[in-house]
Amino acid sequence: MKIIRNVAEMQKQSMELKRAGKTIGFTPTMGYLHEGHASLMEQARVESDIVVASIFVNPLQFGANEDFDQYPRDEARDIQLAKEKGVDYLFIPAVSDMYPNPTGIQMLPNQRIAVLCDRSRPGHFQGVLVVLSKLFHLVQPDYAYFGMKDAQQLAIVDLLIKDLNFPIQLRMVPTVREEDGLAKSSRNVNLTSQERAEAPHLYQALQLAETKIVDGEKNPVNIVDEVKQYIKTYTSALIDYVEILSFPNLTAVDWIDQDVIIALAVQYQHVRLIDNIIVNKAGERVHALR
Ligand code: PAF
Repeated sequence: MKIIRNVAEMQKQSMELKRAGKTIGFTPTMGYLHEGHASLMEQARVESDIVVASIFVNPLQFGANEDFDQYPRDEARDIQLAKEKGVDYLFIPAVSDMYPNPTGIQMLPNQRIAVLCDRSRPGHFQGVLVVLSKLFHLVQPDYAYFGMKDAQQLAIVDLLIKDLNFPIQLRMVPTVREEDGLAKSSRNVNLTSQERAEAPHLYQALQLAETKIVDGEKNPVNIVDEVKQYIKTYTSALIDYVEILSFPNLTAVDWIDQDVIIALAVQYQHVRLIDNIIVNKAGERVHALR
């Protein structure tokens, strides 16, 4: 595995690979890698000649009061894991190289926004769009792999790729969970032991919603109410949102007769957690963008 820290070198390397006719699978990350990232790399390894992963904690996507400084980092461990997963090139740029000047262009999505995480993290997705546009130009992937846990990010990346004609196929990879159901996240290390013990109830709340839909409940309001009640009963987390929206368009639904995302976000002392499931009108899980 080759580690590239320089932006110009990454782009030169990708251009050479493309000229040689190689397909590139790309897993962008912010590091502190876990099994969720590993599953993205594994899928990339199966589908592409060359696997590129990036580690870059992107300051543009963190708000002033968010955890940019506390975001966990462990480069040596990440390098080891990427090597084990068969990554060919690990791109670890410096902030000063990615953003030598304040960005002169802003990217403002018009759709799939003003819901879910965008409400409590204004500006976050603009930062994600800028960094991903840059990374896509530098890495020139044929396939890009994103986890379903960040479903709004995935929906917005889908829009970015389609609207701006990036020649990239987006792959949606299922959320990897701990044995007790908690979605894997780099941020889980910042939970207190009590929070960690109760956090699996978040996924159980989503499963409760799923069961309701399987049993024929079509009214999203009733389901959202039950999910909120469940979270309040079994956890000490503050609910940021529980929403049921169409997927991937993320529009309001007043009757569940299509693919929907049931998504939640909660705030713990030092950590904000998100999780979701995507189901069709019969309550069966959906695992691909349609
Ligand atoms: O999901 C993440 O880790 C980040 O938002 C991403 C896609 C690497 C962009 O910084």
